[in-house]
Amino acid sequence: MSLTQLKDSLPPDWKLEEEIRRLKKERNAVILAHYYQESDIQDLADHVGDSLQLARAAQKTQADVILFCGVHFMAEVAKILNPERVVILPDLEAGCSLADGCPAPEFERFLAKHPDHFVISYINCSAAVKALSDVICTSSNAVKIVSQIPKGQPILFAPDQHLGRFVMKQTGREMVLWPGSCIVHETFSEKKIIELLLRHPGSELIAHPECEEPVLRHAKFIGSTTALLQYAVSSSAQTLIVATEEGILHAMRRDAPGKTLIPAPPEDESCACNQCPHMRRNTLEKVYLALRDLQPRLELDETLRLRAKKPIDRMLEMS
Ligand code: 13P
Ligand code: SF4
Repeated sequence: MSLTQLKDSLPPDWKLEEEIRRLKKERNAVILAHYYQESDIQDLADHVGDSLQLARAAQKTQADVILFCGVHFMAEVAKILNPERVVILPDLEAGCSLADGCPAPEFERFLAKHPDHFVISYINCSAAVKALSDVICTSSNAVKIVSQIPKGQPILFAPDQHLGRFVMKQTGREMVLWPGSCIVHETFSEKKIIELLLRHPGSELIAHPECEEPVLRHAKFIGSTTALLQYAVSSSAQTLIVATEEGILHAMRRDAPGKTLIPAPPEDESCACNQCPHMRRNTLEKVYLALRDLQPRLELDETLRLRAKKPIDRMLEMS
């Protein structure tokens, strides 16, 4: 039965949020949501966080069911860490341009051209790519992980070239980069950001390290979604221009009330380019259906799961 058919057969006072809370209890489920989810989903979640925090929350949970409101690779990490639990996500098609732009067979050929390199993969990649990596990192621990690799050991970093370049600058380490990028973080216009900074004296640009270098060079602070949120709260600047997916503004408005928060403008302002189309596939209706039906489920081949788990465990130890 579709949700529309279901709604038609229900009393008019039926409330989606209440039904989701009821089902969550009934299923002994935990809802994990990324900051890029629509605000209604963030408000219903047990944990809202960046990709590292959500991986940690998935590692610790005792719930029978993990409903992962994020994209496919994030739910996949939850399943890799919790093979015995049911992991569902509202929309199985919620992909990621970074993960999709780094297919495992091509990545394997790339690695073959760089033997002896230590392979660090950003968590935004498939389980198959993780299985080919020595360690995983997220935007909040990438600098820390790279800094721990012995000097003299060549490093290959994939799949986000912009994060890779940012880490190279921070650590002074040369790395071979896979040429991937995020469709959302590549849309911001340097020219329009400069105009905004000039129009709002005292304002600061804060940016996710997936942004391109011409944008990052104007940033007062660069960090993961959680780090950006913390900075927005602690900064003395009253106006912040935020260069990341605009879902984070929901938590920023709540935690930094009174501050003026301006989403960084994309080159083409006629689109909703600073909303991740993959993250936004998840809706409250799909959250309800996923909890009701315990579908769609994340399933993983056990051999692949074990190979992908190794570099994730290593990351959790190193960060
Ligand atoms: P975070 O590590 O900040 O959660 O970022 C994940 C992501 O997909 C950014 O586009
Ligand atoms: Fe992937 Fe970019 Fe969406 Fe993050 S914002 S999930 S990196 S496409």
